[in-house]
This record gives sequence, structure tokens and C-alpha cells, in this order.
Amino acid sequence: MTANMNPQLTVAHLSDVHLAPLAIFWPNYWNAKRFLGYANWVVRRRRSHLRAVVDQLVEDLRHQHVDHIAVSGDLINLGLPQEYERALLWLHTLGPPERVSVVPGNHDIYTRLRRHTGVGRWARYMESDEWGAELAPGPGPRFPYVRRIGPSVALVGLNSAVPTPPGVASGEVGAEQIRQCREILHALRERGMFRLVMIHHPPLVSQIKPGRDLKDAAELERVLLETGAELVIHGHNHRDMVSWHRTSTGLMPVVGIASASIGRLSRHEPLARYNIYRLHPPKREHGWQIELIGRGIREPDGPVVQVEHRWLEPGKSAEANLSAASLAPR
Ligand SMILES: [Fe+2]
Ligand SMILES: [Fe+2]
Repeated sequence: MTANMNPQLTVAHLSDVHLAPLAIFWPNYWNAKRFLGYANWVVRRRRSHLRAVVDQLVEDLRHQHVDHIAVSGDLINLGLPQEYERALLWLHTLGPPERVSVVPGNHDIYTRLRRHTGVGRWARYMESDEWGAELAPGPGPRFPYVRRIGPSVALVGLNSAVPTPPGVASGEVGAEQIRQCREILHALRERGMFRLVMIHHPPLVSQIKPGRDLKDAAELERVLLETGAELVIHGHNHRDMVSWHRTSTGLMPVVGIASASIGRLSRHEPLARYNIYRLHPPKREHGWQIELIGRGIREPDGPVVQVEHRWLEPGKSAEANLSAASLAPR
């Protein structure tokens, strides 16, 4: 197969931008969770999640000429109507919906929203394209959705966000979404596609403490280990993490990423970063190769530089990959 028929593709991944909420409360939307969330923002988060840093990363990303941008949730903080509008404007700065895919985080589906459409404002970024609609039909927001990137990569977007009580940041995918995810991943495997799965919460059991975890991680993990996937990406932990899992179709890397807006160190959360995946198609002697390039800031007010470069090779037998199970802390 020639390079033109099956080219190398690049996908950028950023997460947990937590764009600042406005200091205006609409009485209709006032409740205990938003009050506590706002207090947390004022006392702590606003000092570390900086819009200037997000803009810096996005400007750097603009020069990387990627084929697609994947955003794994927590775009906002309190789930207020104006936050959805402002986040939509921000998404427009990233690119058109055809080139940008989004899944919601627990701060995007936060608590009661009355009649506001919420993440529905981002629907065009959360729906199947024409190709994927054969497997996951329907307008956005629709989960799972399926999008094709180039001739051989399929992105599957899952929603793990559900409204929760104050102090709870857990998520749930739900039985129906897991059932569809299983069918879709099998079908994409039969078509020989590289399967890139995106979800906000870490998708596997024991990846995060109770209260912030995925309630049905055991069910989702069972499906992912049965179907396999070439790469799973997530946010939520605000940490860089890589783990490998044996599936029926080979090794599956699961990669979590730091927040894209942390400009000041806070609670040991690393400084802002995004990842670029260069997906190298199979050649005769080996399967898919994933080149992971992390770009971010190394110090407050510092420039965006390359902070990580590593290879992930799902088709390769375990040892080389498993020997480096975690990203080096920065
Ligand atoms: Fe977050
Ligand atoms: Fe989150």
C-alpha cells in the first residue's frame, strides 16, 4: 500500500481546560452544588487554571498541522448557560466541528439545568460524521458517536458525565452506551480500522478513587478487554498517565492527560500540556505504531515546548511497552 493510500495521521488531545465561569449567578440556576463549585473556583482553582495558558497551548497547536483535535471534557466549571456559550466560542477557535471532537466531562454535565440545552450547544462537535452514522446514527449530542479520520482511523466518543450531588465527581457510561460501544468496536475491527476511544473519566477499574471514579468501570473494562482498541484517551485526573492492558486483539494503551490550563502548580497537578499522536499505519513487519509527542509548559509563565516523546506499539508483544508503564513525572 502506498503512503498516499494509507498516510500517517496526527491527532491532538487536550482536556480539562476549565474555562473561567463569570461572576454572575442567575437565581434560577442557584443550588448547593454550584455554590460550592463557585467557592472552590474563587478560593483555589482560578489561581491555577489560567485562560492565558489555554490560549498559549492552542496557539502552539495551530502550528502543528494536525488532522484532528480531540477534547476530552471539563471545558467549563459550573454548567451555567453562559459558560456553554463561551465554551462554544472557544471550540470555534480550535476548528470546525468536522476537525474537532468533544466528549463531556463531569463539569460540563454538572447539575440541574432546567430547560437550557447544556452540552447540546456543542452538538455538532459530538455527533457521528456521515461515515460513522452507519454505525451510530442520529444527531448530536449522541453517544457513542463515530468519526473517521483519514482512511483508516475511527474515533469513538463516549459520554461518562451524569449530574451528581455536591462533592461527587463520579461518572457513569450506562448499559446501553456500553452495549453500543461493544458492537461498534467489533464492527470497526472487522473493517480494519485503528480504533481511538475517547472518554472523560479514566475508563478502567481502580484508576481513580471512589467519588471521582466511573461507576460502571467494571462493565466498560470487560467490553474493552473483549473488543480491544488501539488507543484509549481520557482526562479528569489532571495527570499524565499511561497503562497497558491485554485484550483479545493485542495490547491496548490507555493514556490520561494533564489539564490544558494549569499555569501554577496546585495540589501536585502538573503544568498544562497537550498530546499529539502521530499514527503510523502498519507495515509488513509490524502493526500500528503510535508516536506520542507531549507539548506543554515546564514552568509558570514559560513557553510551550516539547515535554515528552515516546513510542507506543499496540501490535508489539508486551515487554517493551510494559517496561515503561507510566509517563515520567515532570
Ligand atoms: Fe477536570
Ligand atoms: Fe473531570
